[in-house]
Amino acid sequence: MEVKTKSLLDNMIGVGDMVLLEPLSEDSFIENLRKRFDHNEIYTYIGSVVISMNPYKSMLIYSPEKVEEYRNRNFYELSPHIYALADEAYRSLRDQDKDQCILITGESGAGKTEASKLVMSYVAAVCGKGQEVNKVKEQLLQSNPVLEAFGNAKTVRNDNSSRFGKYMDIEFDFKGDPLGGVISNYLLEKSRVVKQPRGERNFHIFYQLLSGASDDTLKKLKLERDFSKYNYLSLDSAVVNGLDDATSFRTVRNAMQIVGFMEDEVQSVLELVAAVLKLGNIEFKPESRCNGTDESRVKDKNDLKEMCELLGIEQSVLERAFSYRTVEAKLEKVSTTLNVAQAYYARDALAKNLYSRLFSWIVTRINESIKAQAKTRHKVMGVLDIYGFEIFDDNSFEQFIINYCNEKLQQIFIELTLREEQEEYIREGIEWTNIEYFNNAIICDLIENHQNGILAMLDEECLRPGTVTDETFLDKLNTVCAEHQHFESRSSKNSKFLTDHSLPHSCFRIQHYAGKVLYRVEGFVDKNNDLLYRDLSQAMYKANHSLIKHLFPEGNPAKVNLKRPPTAGFQFKASVGTLMRNLQTKNPNYIRCIKPNDKKAPHIFTESLVCHQVRYLGLMENVRVRRAGYAFRQAYEPCLERYKMLCKRTWPHWRGPAREGVEMLMADLQVPAEEFSYGRSKIFIRNPRTLFFLEERRRQCLQDLATLIQKIYRGWKCRTHFLLLKKSQIVVAAWYRRYAQEKKYLKIKRATTVVQSYTRGWQARKLLRELKHQKRCKEAVTTIAAYWHGTQARMELRRLKQEVLNKHAVTVIWAYWQGTKARRELRQLKEAARNKHAVSVIWAGWQGTKARRELRRLKEEARRKHAVAVIWAYWKGLKVRREYRKFFRANAGKKIYNFTIQRIMQKYFLGLKSTLPSMSPIDKNWPVRPYIFLDGVHTELRRIFHLWRCKKYRSRFTEEKKAVYEEKLEASELFKDKKALYPSSVSQPFKGDYLEISKNPKYQKLNSSVDEKVLLADVVNKINRANGKGATRILLLTKKNVVLADQKTGQVKASVALPDLTSVSVSTQNDGFFALRLKEGSASAVKGDFLLSSEHLIETITKLHHIGSAGSDGEQLNVDIADEFLVQFKQDKVCVKFIQGAPKNGNGVSCKRKNNRLLEVSVPASA
Ligand SMILES: Nc1ncnc2c1ncn2[C@@H]1O[C@H](COP(=O)(O)OP(=O)(O)O)[C@@H](O)[C@H]1O
Ligand SMILES: [Mg+2]
Repeated sequence: MEVKTKSLLDNMIGVGDMVLLEPLSEDSFIENLRKRFDHNEIYTYIGSVVISMNPYKSMLIYSPEKVEEYRNRNFYELSPHIYALADEAYRSLRDQDKDQCILITGESGAGKTEASKLVMSYVAAVCGKGQEVNKVKEQLLQSNPVLEAFGNAKTVRNDNSSRFGKYMDIEFDFKGDPLGGVISNYLLEKSRVVKQPRGERNFHIFYQLLSGASDDTLKKLKLERDFSKYNYLSLDSAVVNGLDDATSFRTVRNAMQIVGFMEDEVQSVLELVAAVLKLGNIEFKPESRCNGTDESRVKDKNDLKEMCELLGIEQSVLERAFSYRTVEAKLEKVSTTLNVAQAYYARDALAKNLYSRLFSWIVTRINESIKAQAKTRHKVMGVLDIYGFEIFDDNSFEQFIINYCNEKLQQIFIELTLREEQEEYIREGIEWTNIEYFNNAIICDLIENHQNGILAMLDEECLRPGTVTDETFLDKLNTVCAEHQHFESRSSKNSKFLTDHSLPHSCFRIQHYAGKVLYRVEGFVDKNNDLLYRDLSQAMYKANHSLIKHLFPEGNPAKVNLKRPPTAGFQFKASVGTLMRNLQTKNPNYIRCIKPNDKKAPHIFTESLVCHQVRYLGLMENVRVRRAGYAFRQAYEPCLERYKMLCKRTWPHWRGPAREGVEMLMADLQVPAEEFSYGRSKIFIRNPRTLFFLEERRRQCLQDLATLIQKIYRGWKCRTHFLLLKKSQIVVAAWYRRYAQEKKYLKIKRATTVVQSYTRGWQARKLLRELKHQKRCKEAVTTIAAYWHGTQARMELRRLKQEVLNKHAVTVIWAYWQGTKARRELRQLKEAARNKHAVSVIWAGWQGTKARRELRRLKEEARRKHAVAVIWAYWKGLKVRREYRKFFRANAGKKIYNFTIQRIMQKYFLGLKSTLPSMSPIDKNWPVRPYIFLDGVHTELRRIFHLWRCKKYRSRFTEEKKAVYEEKLEASELFKDKKALYPSSVSQPFKGDYLEISKNPKYQKLNSSVDEKVLLADVVNKINRANGKGATRILLLTKKNVVLADQKTGQVKASVALPDLTSVSVSTQNDGFFALRLKEGSASAVKGDFLLSSEHLIETITKLHHIGSAGSDGEQLNVDIADEFLVQFKQDKVCVKFIQGAPKNGNGVSCKRKNNRLLEVSVPASA
């Protein structure tokens, strides 16, 4: 297709290539840029470097027609365009097999990301087509919206600023068809997740999700559409002009689908985004602890709960991780509490980590989809779009890192364009005057030097034990870097900054190649450490959510790693190092982006701003080196190969050295000598015009050559065609002749055959006749011979037959004679046999008769013998009976009787032995009597057995036990059938010392005040005489005294000598009341008798009675049992009367003073 466009050199606005600028000065340079910018020419070259001005408006220069226009055209052939650079890079990748990289640099907002997308879309448009290839292209292109949604944000510089560095390797096969790609991402600015500077926004995805997701999706994610509900979203710039978050959300979802995200993966990603929003809403409040410190507590648990539900985390685990922190050291685990500030720090650290890990996961996931399948060697085109140089009012760790990266890129630019170029001239021995340029290696060294670079110092601070703060880090910088030319700080040793008030104390300043940047050290240590408390990572690992578990592998308790993870600075330095090494292996193509104004507005060209960028990008030096040098260079061999057709002597083959060939060529073309130089291995062409001239001549020459080739080819083709026709004609003639001859030959052959067949037929017939005659003669002879032989044979046969007949007759006669003889003999033998049989029969008959006769005789004999034996036995019996009758009557009956009785008794005793009851005296069992006549014996035996086992039982008693039983016996004598309380006391053992008075330290005093052994110690109720209510007392009983003491203090209240007791009165009923009646006039009787109630009444009274009866004077203590008795209270005698009350709950006995003379005790009837 013939495309009409301006060439680089035709009616240009300003100049298209700064190399051609005349005169060259900074002013004219900027003026040229402005002029072009005003005329919508945003691209300008410096040799092969493209300068791109951000138009801040959409341009009509990216249409498919434009793509076609720039496709396969020489770089300088058309007006400057980013497509020309892309085309050049793509073609040298495809045709010359050189890996390429496209380095796009410039400030934030200068148009780098747009440029990278333009390059990619151009390459996608010009490379191969086909179903598979289109799919790969689509995936590569669609990875952009996804990454931009998660990694871009609105900043004051750029509404769609990339907050991460991106390097994408696109891989091609030998035909130049894309196979896939690999994306590397660099340091996402994750601090943005939790806090954004004024006028900026969080990452796009948060706003896109809230604006674009359906109500249903939001409900599932537990989100609300209102931005103001979320602490992490800054409000002041939630809506950005020209950005439609809702539409973008659909674009992103669609792109994710094309890139190959599964539906559940998208859902997981959105859940994580929602979780980050929720996390920002969790707030903390202090809670005082007893040691005076404050501990943080989650304020409102609803957001926490919803977040935990989203991620499948157990709420208590996360809640704990916000209040405590476990520090592990070797074998120890120490848990410390977090205060509110620390809790907020932990929350933000978690949010940042969650988001940045999610982002890295997305990149990995995209890589998985777009990775090239084939294992063959790929050609690679790398596109680097990394964050631009940033100078803000407040610069922190992120800016420091970003600017470091830009320093490195500038370094590689210098290396590859300026220094490399100059070095090449020297290497090639080309005369050359050195151009001064600023080499920023010294700044790179200030930052990255292993020993004393700023990053190394920061790492050293972070890893050092002891208290580490941003200030100590600054102090360290002040001592280590003070002398450095590019380092400035107020308190450094360098006295010249002591009075510089533009330099605050907590800051340091670096003179970057692009200008001075003031960094505030606050947060450097924290951000470099990038610490996430282990409790949080473990909580995340425990989540029942496939993606989140995957993002926090260090939370796996099985893989506890006490080593610190590498710092953020260290990681970044390492990845930048790898990137630089990678770029150095590739052929670089530069796009230098320039921002025309700070207002993001079209048509405005702020000269000072552009001038600043032109300076620090070193563009002037770039032009100077280019101009001082040569626009084009090429090794002699390829140069000769390319242009050898321009000279007759070098065309078509040059046999000598390549350099001489090129010299011949240049001389022949009469190129002026100042336009080129011969290097050692290359020719250097000063001006692009010369190159265009050569190219043009080559193009013309190629056309001539093409015509020549066409001519020769056509001639060759016609000749070949003619020769072919000629050859064919001969073949056809030959074939025809052959055919005609063949036909004639066949005719003759057929005639010959006919004649031949006739002759042969006649001859054959003649022969046949002769042969037939001969045959007939032969047959006649044979017949005659046969007949003669027949006659002879028959005669012989007859003779033989006669002979045989004779022989047969003799045999027959012989046989007959033999037969007759045999039959005669047979008859004789039969006769003899018959005779013999008759004799046997007769014999047998006789023998039978004899035997029967004998049998009859023997039977008769046996009967006779039996009769004799029977008769003999009768007679014998008769004789014995007659003899023994007299003895039998006298003794036998008695003997048999005795024997029988003896047997029965024996059986009875043995039976009894095996069925005896147990040895327990209370066992009532006794076997059943077997015979009536044994009745008496049986009862007697039972009695004896019982006595015997009682004796046995008694013999096992110890003295104490005996005493106890004696007491029990005494109780029985006293109370049995007299008091209703008695039966229930039988089974209770008498313990006596219920209070364990000697052991219990509480009663030590009381115990010491009683001299003798305590026989009974129990708590009793002393009944108040006035109102009948009870008061608890301790009752002690010794051999001589009854003592009443206070239960609490143990103080003795009353002590009664036993002789002073006259009697004890109790009721007949089921109560524990008893009255101790005292001897009138005795010392104890001053206050009157005691009315008491005890739980162990039976035991107490029995013991009293026992001691009384055992006393030396032998005076018995009376026990009166009656339902009414008199008690002496001081002067009065009061009647105590027991009545039966209704059975009540609790079975309580109540006592009431009825009047002066009567105290009524109501005892519930026992059930
Ligand atoms: N070639 C271009 N044509 C039209 N607008 C552009 C072009 N390059 C940049 N822009 C505008 O400038 C803005 C910033 O560009 P971007 O590439 O994101 O900057 P950087 O990546 O350098 O920070 C874009 O959002 C777009 O509006
Ligand atoms: Mg960008």
